[in-house]
Amino acid sequence: MRTIDWVPADGPGPGHIRMVDQTRLPDTFAELRISTVDQLVDAIQRLSVRGAPALGVAGAMGVALAVQTLPTDEVRTAVDRLRAARPTAANLALGVDLAWAQAQRGGGSAALDAALAMRDEDIAGCRAMAARGAELLSQLLPDRPRLRVLTICNTGALAAVEHGTALSVIERLHDEGRLDRALVCETRPLLQGARLTAWELSRMGARYELIVDSAAASIMAGGGVDAVLVGADRIAANGDTANKIGTFALALAAAHAGVPFLVVAPETTVDTATASGADIEIEDRGADEVRAFRGVPTAPADAPVRNPAFDVTPAALITAIVTDRRVVDLTAHQTPAGRSVNVGPSLNEEEA
Ligand code: MRU
Repeated sequence: MRTIDWVPADGPGPGHIRMVDQTRLPDTFAELRISTVDQLVDAIQRLSVRGAPALGVAGAMGVALAVQTLPTDEVRTAVDRLRAARPTAANLALGVDLAWAQAQRGGGSAALDAALAMRDEDIAGCRAMAARGAELLSQLLPDRPRLRVLTICNTGALAAVEHGTALSVIERLHDEGRLDRALVCETRPLLQGARLTAWELSRMGARYELIVDSAAASIMAGGGVDAVLVGADRIAANGDTANKIGTFALALAAAHAGVPFLVVAPETTVDTATASGADIEIEDRGADEVRAFRGVPTAPADAPVRNPAFDVTPAALITAIVTDRRVVDLTAHQTPAGRSVNVGPSLNEEEA
């Protein structure tokens, strides 16, 4: 299954984007046909397509759509709207920028070539992260033949193209017979863990337990977790990492329990132009999705709400960042107590 792909036109004329509609999972598996930039911006904002790597590919394919379907004087505005559809994931703006640069040189077909290259690199990159992450866990936990790993949100195939990031490491552990179980945080308010990650793990035949988000700290403190694996939406130059709201709390709990905390993300999520987490824009998704779920009220209709979709985990709480090219060991820069020290390593440096 590909979460997102480009479908060429039967004859002359533009193709379209085909994507899984993630808002309808797990009850209904349905696909969307996206043939305009307006439809794509709506799909991104409604989270029909979501997860940083998938957003990168969507953004690049959206530029191809824009160039192929819109009058020349409307393309630039459409590309800007696409780029701004969601602010936190680095990949969306990067995908748009890469495809737009190609479009200016070679038009719609060049933009599409860039998007397809990004799609293919995502598939290969996720395989590389799976292997590297599983290997790192063997090194970190040599005396644990079967691991209990905790994760949040959805970092699987649904968040990328064919394979995921953190969840692809868990899939690799399962394939190798090294997974005791995955503990999956529900991930309020939109339940990406319960709806999407649980769905993916079921399809894999992997053993998992779904937990309410607030159970994670006590399960970790009680010795029930060997490692925490999360994805990333944007990684600043000092290693501070924005990811789904609740990730920071997991990192604090992991530090308290002495559990390794790994971020698994492609290089395309590393934003060396952003110095630290303080400079990362956090998307606010408004009140509606906290006051109700799929139309069913979960709070008074007029309850005041604060709904940041992401938080920033300081580099000091991260054991390592695993990318498609390297492992960045952050522990070398932390105090023995794992507390914050202001010396996050530069992600410009290649792994030694
Ligand atoms: O709001 P979402 O569902 O797009 O948030 C997704 C996450 O926070 C993921 O952990 C992150 O994008 C990495 S996906 C491989």
